[in-house]
Amino acid sequence: MSGREVKMIFAAQARSFLRHHRAIAAPVSVAVRAYRKLRPVHEPVHPFDAEFGMNTGGLVGVARLRTGHANEAQAMAYYGSQPSAFRTAMRRWMASLAGAGQPVQTFTFVDIGCGKGRVLMLASEFPLQRIVGVELSPALVKDANENLRQWRLRPHACEQIEARVADVLEFPLPEGPTLLYLYNPFEAELFARWVQSLQPALASRTAPLHVMYMNPRHEALLAAVPGVELLWQESIAHDEAEASVSLIGSEPERVSLYRLA
Ligand SMILES: C[S@@+](CC[C@H](N)C(=O)[O-])C[C@H]1O[C@@H](n2cnc3c(N)ncnc32)[C@H](O)[C@@H]1O
Repeated sequence: MSGREVKMIFAAQARSFLRHHRAIAAPVSVAVRAYRKLRPVHEPVHPFDAEFGMNTGGLVGVARLRTGHANEAQAMAYYGSQPSAFRTAMRRWMASLAGAGQPVQTFTFVDIGCGKGRVLMLASEFPLQRIVGVELSPALVKDANENLRQWRLRPHACEQIEARVADVLEFPLPEGPTLLYLYNPFEAELFARWVQSLQPALASRTAPLHVMYMNPRHEALLAAVPGVELLWQESIAHDEAEASVSLIGSEPERVSLYRLA
C-alpha cells in the first residue's frame, strides 16, 4: 500500500470515528485549528501555479469545506491532480479515439469534483467541445472561477469552460459524447449511488460515455456496470518538479479508462 493510500485511509477512518463520536468532534476540531495557528504549515507553491500564476495548490480538508449538503460526509479532501499524469492520460485517451470515428472535438469533458479547477484548465489544452466542472463546495468553485478568469486571458484549444456548484447526483449527464474525469472525489457509498444513478440513462444512450478514473479506489463499482468495457489501465509517474512539492506522496498515479456507452 502506498504512503498516499495509508494517509487517505487514516483520514477517512479519523473522519468516520469523529462522525460516530460527535461529543468529541467539536473539541478535536478546535484543538486542530489552534495547533495550525501556532504551527502554520507553509505549503510549497505547486509548479502549475508558479508557471501560470494560479491558485490550485494545497490539501483542503473536508473540515474546511463545510457545505451543509447531505453528501458532504462522503467527500474526499481537495487536492489537485498532477498535470504530468493528467496530460499523459489525456494523450493516451486521444490516441485510443483515433480510428474510432469519434473526434475529440465532439466531446464534453466533465470533472466530477473539480475543486479549484486545475484539471479544467489543463483539459483546455486539448481541442474538446466544452469543459464543465462540478463541485460540491461553493468556496472551491469561487477559487476555480477566479483562476478561470486569469486563464481566459490567454487562448487555449478549448475556450468553453465553466465550473458549477452541484452535488454529483444533481448533475445530469451531457447528451453528446462525454468524457467524465474523477480523481478520487468521494467515498464508496456515494460512488455506488452515483454509478447506480447513471444506469437508467445508459440503457438508451447512443453517444459515447467514457470515464477516466485517476487513483481509482472504487473502480470495482464501475467495473460491475452491465456492458462496461475497460479500455486501458496505466501507472503514470509524476514529473520531478511536481513530485518534489507533493503533500501526499509521489508514487506513480494509477489511471483507468472505462467505456460505459
Ligand atoms: C481529490 S479532489 C479532486 C480535484 C480535481 N478533480 C482535480 O483533479 O484537480 C476531490 C474533489 O471532489 C469534491 N467532491 C466531493 N464530494 C463531491 C460531491 N458529492 N459532488 C461534487 N464534488 C464533490 C471535493 O470537494 C474535492 O474538491
